[in-house]
Order: sequence, then C-alpha cells, then structure tokens
Amino acid sequence: MTSSPAESADSDWVLRYEGADPGREAVREVLCAVGNGRFVTRGAAPESRADGVHYPGTYAAGVVDRCADRVDGRAVENESIVNLPDWQPLTFRIDDGDWLGDAALTAGDQVQELDLRRGVLTRRFVVTDGAGRRSRVAQRRLVSMADPMLAALDCSVVPENWSGRLTVRSALDGRVENAGVARYRGLDGRHLAFVTGGHCAGLLTLVVETVQSRIRVGLAARHRLLVDGVEHEPGHRATAGDGLTAVEFDVDVRPGRAVTVEKVVALCTSRDRAIGEPGAAALDEARRAPSFDRLLERHVQAWAHLWERCDVRIEGPSRTSLVLRLHVFHILQTVSPHSVDLDAGIPARGLHGEAYRGHVFWDEVFVLPFLVLRLPSVARAMLMYRWRRLPQARAAARAAGHRGALFPWQSGATGREESPTVHLNPRSGRWVPDNSALQRHIGLAVAYNTWRYHEATGDTEFLVEHGAELLLDVASFWADLATYDRTDDRYDLCGVMGPDEYHDALPGRDGPGLDDNAYTNVMAAWTLTRALECVAELPARRREHLLDRLGIGERDLLRWEHVSRRLRLCWHPDGVLSQFRGYADLAEFDWAGYRARYGDISRLDRILEAEGDTPNRYRVSKQADVLMLFHLLTADEFYAVLDRLGYAHDRRTIPTTVAYYTARTCHGSTLSRVVQAWVLARSDRARAWAYFQQALESDIADLQGGTTGEGIHLGAMAGTVDLLQRGFTGLQTHGGALGFDPYLPERLTGMRFRLHYRQHPELDVAITHRTLTVGDSAQVVPELPVRVRDADFRLDPRGTLQVPLQRRRG
Ligand code: BGC
Repeated sequence: MTSSPAESADSDWVLRYEGADPGREAVREVLCAVGNGRFVTRGAAPESRADGVHYPGTYAAGVVDRCADRVDGRAVENESIVNLPDWQPLTFRIDDGDWLGDAALTAGDQVQELDLRRGVLTRRFVVTDGAGRRSRVAQRRLVSMADPMLAALDCSVVPENWSGRLTVRSALDGRVENAGVARYRGLDGRHLAFVTGGHCAGLLTLVVETVQSRIRVGLAARHRLLVDGVEHEPGHRATAGDGLTAVEFDVDVRPGRAVTVEKVVALCTSRDRAIGEPGAAALDEARRAPSFDRLLERHVQAWAHLWERCDVRIEGPSRTSLVLRLHVFHILQTVSPHSVDLDAGIPARGLHGEAYRGHVFWDEVFVLPFLVLRLPSVARAMLMYRWRRLPQARAAARAAGHRGALFPWQSGATGREESPTVHLNPRSGRWVPDNSALQRHIGLAVAYNTWRYHEATGDTEFLVEHGAELLLDVASFWADLATYDRTDDRYDLCGVMGPDEYHDALPGRDGPGLDDNAYTNVMAAWTLTRALECVAELPARRREHLLDRLGIGERDLLRWEHVSRRLRLCWHPDGVLSQFRGYADLAEFDWAGYRARYGDISRLDRILEAEGDTPNRYRVSKQADVLMLFHLLTADEFYAVLDRLGYAHDRRTIPTTVAYYTARTCHGSTLSRVVQAWVLARSDRARAWAYFQQALESDIADLQGGTTGEGIHLGAMAGTVDLLQRGFTGLQTHGGALGFDPYLPERLTGMRFRLHYRQHPELDVAITHRTLTVGDSAQVVPELPVRVRDADFRLDPRGTLQVPLQRRRG
C-alpha cells in the first residue's frame, strides 16, 4: 500500500479525457471544475461560450440573487446562486484568420487532464486552420487554494509550420446570465447589472452588481506574455463596453517558438472580509499577485496540505480510488478552510452549476461526517450558517403556530424557505405542486449534525455558545408539534413528509402531508433525548441563562421527556417498521411491468404524473426513508430509541425492515444508493459493494442521464467517502471512545486515512482484513481510549495501537 500521496500511481490522481464529446461536455465541465471553497469555475474551454454544448460558469459561495416571475399565471420568486462574469475568455488567431472557438477553427486531438493532487486542469490540443497552418497549444488553469481571491490560466501556442502574426484576445465577460438548467429557462435568469469596466494601468477590470441582493463583484486581470520563456511587452488594444472588457496583443512568431500568455485574475465580492470596494480590491489583488508559476507553486502546496488531512488511500480497484479522490476533491472545492468566514452553507449541487439554484438542503448530513473528522473548523462554520438563521427558523415555527425553530427545506441567504411551490415535469410539460417544504425533518438533521460534531470534537465552547441553542430550539419545535392521543397514550407528528419525496399525501385525503413518518418520529425521539442530555450537561448557570432566553421551563422539559418516550411508530404485522401511518394500505407496485415499459424508472414521480397517476398510491420510495435511520444511527442507538418508546423488537427488526424497503426503492436520488450500501454493509457485503460502486458512478458516469452537467451531487460524493471512512470501518465517535468495528468489502483489502478526533488532530488509521492500526503522531496529547469491536484499548501519546481482527464471513 502506498504510504503518501506522492508515491501513489498517477492513474489514481488524474481524471483524463481524450477527444471531444459534445453530448457529454457539460458533465466534463462539472467534473473538471476548479475551485477553492470560495468560488468555483466550470471546466469550459477558455475560448468557449454558452452555446448549447459549453456552459462557462463561475459561482461564489453565498453570492445569490432573487428574481420575481410568473408561472401559470401565479407570481413566484426564486433565489439563485449567480453565474458570475466569465473570467476565462482567452483565444487567438493567425493574421486576420478565424478566432479559435469560431466554427471554422476548433481544437483537435485534445487531451484534457484534471490533476486532483495539484488542483490543476490542463488541456493540450492542436489547431489547423483552413490554410493548413498547424499550432500546438497547451493550457493550464487553477483557482488558487492558497490565495483565495485568485484564479489563473496560461496558454502556450507553438506554431509548427508557419510564421506570421499571432493575436491573442483576453476578456472579462459580464454579459452572462443563469441559463445552465433547461427546466428553468422559461424563468428570468438575469442577475447582473454592469457597473464599470475598462483597462486600468495594464489591467482589465470589470465591476458588476447583482440586481436584487446588490452584491458587488469586482474582477481584475493581469497579463504577461512570454516568447520562449522571455517576457515581452507587446502593444495592446483594449476595448470595453456593454459588460465586456477585452484586450488584444500581437506578436510575430515563427515555427517552434512558444508564445505563452498568462492571465491572473482576482475576484472580490462585497461579501468578502477585509476588503474595501470590490473593484478596487480586485485591482489591488491582481496587481500584487505573483507570476503564474509562483501562484501554481503556492496552490500545489496548499493542496498538498489539504490532502495530507483529507486523502483516503485504498487497496482496491484503481477506478474506485480515483473516483473517491475526485469526490474528496470536489467536496474541498465547495467547502474548504476558505469557507469558514463566508456564512454560506453546503449547496447540494456544489458551486458547479445552477441545479436547485444553489440551495442548501439536508444533504449536509452526508457531508458533515467527513468535515467533522478532517476539518472541524469548517464543519463548525457550516453549523454556524444554521445558527445565524435561527431567528428566521423561529419565525417560521411561529408562523406555523409552533414553538422552537423550523428550518427551511431549501435554504439560501436569509434562511427563509426557498423551496419552489411548483415544479416542471419535463415528461408531461406540466407544472405540478411541490410540497417538499413539508420535509420538516431538515431540522432533525441540523440537530443531529450539531450533536455529532460535539461528540467528535468535544468542542464544549461551541455547544455552550451555539450548538445547544440549535439542538434545544429544534427539540422544542417537535415537542410542540406532537399531538397527544389519550386513547393510545401516544403522540403523533402529523402533516409532514419524510425523505422519500414520492409520498407527499395519503390517497383520498384532502391536502398534502403524512402522519407519523417513521424516520421523522424516530429522529425526533432521538433529538429530544439528546436535547435533554445536553441540558443536563451544560454548566448550571449557562443552562439557566439559555433556558431563560429560549423560554423553556421545567414543564417543557417534562413534556420533552414524555414525548421522547411516547411517540408513535407504525408496524406491519411481520415486524417491518412502516414508513408512515397508512403506508400498509397502499398498493404494491408493478415493478417488472414498469421496468419493461420504461427501462429506467428512477423518476417514477414523473412517469406516473405523466400517466395521470401518482406514486402516493403505491409502496414505492424515491430514496431511502426508513432505511435512513440505520444510516444515521447505529443498531444499538436505534434499538435504544425503540426501548425508550416502549416498542418490542428483536435482532431481526433491522434486517427485515432493510429487506422490505430495499425491494421497494427506485433510487431517484443519488443519496439513496449511498444509504443502501451502508445498510447492507454488514449483512450482504457483495450487494453493499455493488451499491457503493453505483453511488461512486453517480457523477463520473452521470448516472441520472443529464443531471451532473447541472452540478455535482455533493451529498452522494461525500456519502461515498463516508462509507469508506465510517461505514466499512464501523467508526464511531460517541460514548467517549473512538470506536471501530471494521467489516471491509472483499474487494477492498486495505485503507488508510488521517483523522482529527477531539484533541488528536493527527490520528493515522490503517485497516486491512486482518489488522487495525491507529497511530497518534501528534506531540503532547492525552492518551486516547479506543474500542475495537467489544474490546477496550488505550493509545499512548505518539504511540501506535495494532489490533488483530478476526475475519468475518458474509
Ligand atoms: C432528494 C433530496 C435532496 C435533494 C438535494 C432530492 O432529489 O430527494 O433528499 O436533499 O435532492 O440533493
């Protein structure tokens, strides 16, 4: 097994594409996007424009704008992540010929490589014009992980068989719109107003402002031109106007002489800290920026430091290793140490495209476990994004007639509900009601993340100052929502939706909403119990102050206690936990018939709606719903909730329930296969491995056929890494010890990664089928309790613990 990233094979680190594939260009652009957690730029060619094949796009965390529109005669408003001015445009021509990128002059023999280790996208190709003049071109591109305001690209042109004038044109283009998602194109996508632009002391500048949110974005570009490595100062022509500022350079060339243009760009926004006016700030940054090579060096070093903390090295199929790294890479490009000050959450589709308008869903429940154990300060920043939006969540709870905090299903700048109320079914062409805002379980994910963060970091200060407030206010909401049924001595949670979005109503009942969704009720019981634990853990005076401030009294705590013991769960006669009250009365679905008719039936909601039917009538799930419980909770934790609720169970309860829903889920969400792999990891390793492989393919193979081009599926990406990190290793952070219960798939013979657990920032974990090794390379830290399966150990400071593992079958 390789011991450091530098020694492992390049094939595990390089995503490579040869030739052009217009039909899949959008997917490549997303997978080859480069970014630094502050902003991300899609991997569109610098000479390309939005033309149906290419879609240049740059998105910055938290830079959003709201537009009003009309759909079917109804007023709607959408807040969207904004496609920012294109900083990349760079092209050239020979004498007065066509520009590269014009229909007559395109790249040939192209090889594009994304080097994940270094965070650099390179592209090599040849261009031959109508007169047979052939040039070799090489380009490199980065968005700096070291200097978060900076991005850079360079382009070298080597004439092979001609002499003449080469004209290079570079631009900053603010004429862009949000047009990356076909389904949204009927709605307004104009978010940028031009403020100013031009050519200032040798630099290109452009300042724009978002229309409604009035976020100002300043860009400045500095160029350097080198001939055979020697800097030249050629004459230039600058043009500006209408949102575009451009500059052209001429240089005389001859065969074999390399002309290189470097473009270093600064991008600043009025949301940034420690800057003045964004236009002036960008100008300053660009002026101060080092050369491309120096920038590259610093950038590669920053990535090396990140990889040291975040890499997952496996002994297994090379493609698995590559895709896992691709996933880590894109997580870190969306949220990195540079995100800490940005007050932006974790957008479900990364900063890579416009799907879901850049909104923040519950997907962070899949991303946080990775961040918590690698970059806890980044995880904490993501929780702070929620904490700052507590006032809005409290207002939403009050508006719904309840106490506590009700977080929005889709969140953006302010924390108000951003879910659309209608969505387009492309199959039927109809706008249909969207009730997904009833997924009030989002708050349970926030509470869950808060508690898991606390367990894994021991960050008491965060708990006291912020975390407890999140946890208690969410608990308060659920205790208040619960209605008491005296006859059964049970509480019900009514009018909600679970994670399975294919069920938003009971057939025959007026109005949307389901009752006693098992996922919601179990997680609400778990959250109320943790909230009570948290209250007991807080220092006395802090507890008093917090409870006073939140208006929570002794009687409330008694109610929490009661609700957490008496929430209702529904069961099928064979001991399967029912997805919600009434689920058992639904019809079985004709899986074989529909598969035969439609092939891919993952979007059954669209298929059935187009047929005038609805999934509400059937026992079908879009994604793991009940099964999500076994992803979030260990078997012991789950059974502890059942015990507390007074429901009988045996060791078959989980496997029977898993088998039941596995047969009735169509995986219309990429999150689903992650969970499916997780819940089978201990009972059916072969199937778990197959689901894991499918989950890995979600984006790299664009498994949903067209959605990856609109943005990565960050939850699924992080979920696959977490499957490795926690799923197959049985890693647990609760109970005061770092716990392991490894059960590696047959195809995975070993893995290594570094963890940050509590006061131990450098724990090196290596697991094979035979041995678990944990080493603590940090200097002075207390000894660490480690539990492996049922045995307890202690790891000394700077020590190494090696535990032989009994091989398990299955
Ligand atoms: C899934 C949700 C998820 C959202 C954003 C939907 O398709 O059903 O669970 O939060 O996508 O990724």
